[in-house]
Amino acid sequence: MKNVYKITTKKDEPTYKIINGDNVLGLKKIPTRSIDLIATDSPYAINFAGNKWDNDVVSQEALGESFRVLKHGAFMLCFASSRTDHIVKCRAEQEGFIVKDTIMYVYGTGQIHTYKYGREIESELNKLGKTNANLVQEHLNHSIKLRPAYEPCIVLQKPYRKGQTHAQSIICGGCGSMDIYNTRFNNGDKLRYPSNFIHDNSEQVLEQFATTGKSGVANYFYYPKPSVEEKNYGCEHLPKRGKNYSGSISKNKNTKPQANFHDTVKPVALMKHLIEIFCPSGGVVLDIFNGSSSTGVAAIQSKYSFIGIELCPDYCQIGLARMNKHLSDINHPTECEFEVLLTTEEAA
Ligand SMILES: C[S@@+](CC[C@H](N)C(=O)[O-])C[C@H]1O[C@@H](n2cnc3c(N)ncnc32)[C@H](O)[C@@H]1O
Repeated sequence: MKNVYKITTKKDEPTYKIINGDNVLGLKKIPTRSIDLIATDSPYAINFAGNKWDNDVVSQEALGESFRVLKHGAFMLCFASSRTDHIVKCRAEQEGFIVKDTIMYVYGTGQIHTYKYGREIESELNKLGKTNANLVQEHLNHSIKLRPAYEPCIVLQKPYRKGQTHAQSIICGGCGSMDIYNTRFNNGDKLRYPSNFIHDNSEQVLEQFATTGKSGVANYFYYPKPSVEEKNYGCEHLPKRGKNYSGSISKNKNTKPQANFHDTVKPVALMKHLIEIFCPSGGVVLDIFNGSSSTGVAAIQSKYSFIGIELCPDYCQIGLARMNKHLSDINHPTECEFEVLLTTEEAA
């Protein structure tokens, strides 16, 4: 394959790269079986906050290319929505992945969606020259959505090479097991093993445990949604944008202008916890929906090499700023590389 990237090995210093372009094009430049983990936060296809990019989940082609670049036995973690995660799972299975698990990230900040259906029904009845006060009253405060309280993180695995056992696969490529030992966490009294349930430790979530005793919650790893400080760390020199910014981005009316104006930033500690479980030490982590590069910052903190692919140039600048600040904090010898990919039409 021409123009493929050189991927660092365990002997080298970790390297960091952000690619601005479509993930299928970016993936095509990555050598076959060179990646130890893909950890990504796919669009949910729910038109979240009016973001144009939230129109489809990870594409069939991107999943096929993801399968190709992963080593045998390696994992792909893909955040999804509780409404559309089945599409990701079906597409992934078609490409050869095994659906290993679904981790639930439970949080308390989901917004209730109310809609005045009663009023809509009333106006439809009016058009028909009818009235039905009981029907209107009954549907007055109904909704078409439940309050979202968790995000599924789908755990996919590329099968071992044909005829190989788990142990043989680990000897060949290092991938295939989950480090549940070194990722145990101390939530007060003793070390706990990671599980497929993670929460944000919010009051709302803790209350749900109140009937069985709050101590039950200590069994689970938790990390809150990222703070404004965490999101913007390293981006101080970038322009602040928000509800008035008319680029390809957010229409979220509640967003105050800020340098990192990405609407769906994942907590770095959550991504760090996940990649430390699923990526062998010194491995290469890839995020094919890089956004503001939370996975990249987590990779720096865990000393993995990292490649992030992101379509939107503005998000790439935010990701670069965050990554470079974290790299300079640990006196890393190099900055994060940046490459803009041309589309096939642009390149012609
Ligand atoms: C859910 S967000 C990821 C947010 C990220 N986890 C963070 O913490 O900032 C999904 C991102 O995928 C990007 N995206 C959508 N389609 C893409 C494509 N085909 N190739 C590359 N990036 C894409 C969007 O611009 C958006 O930033």
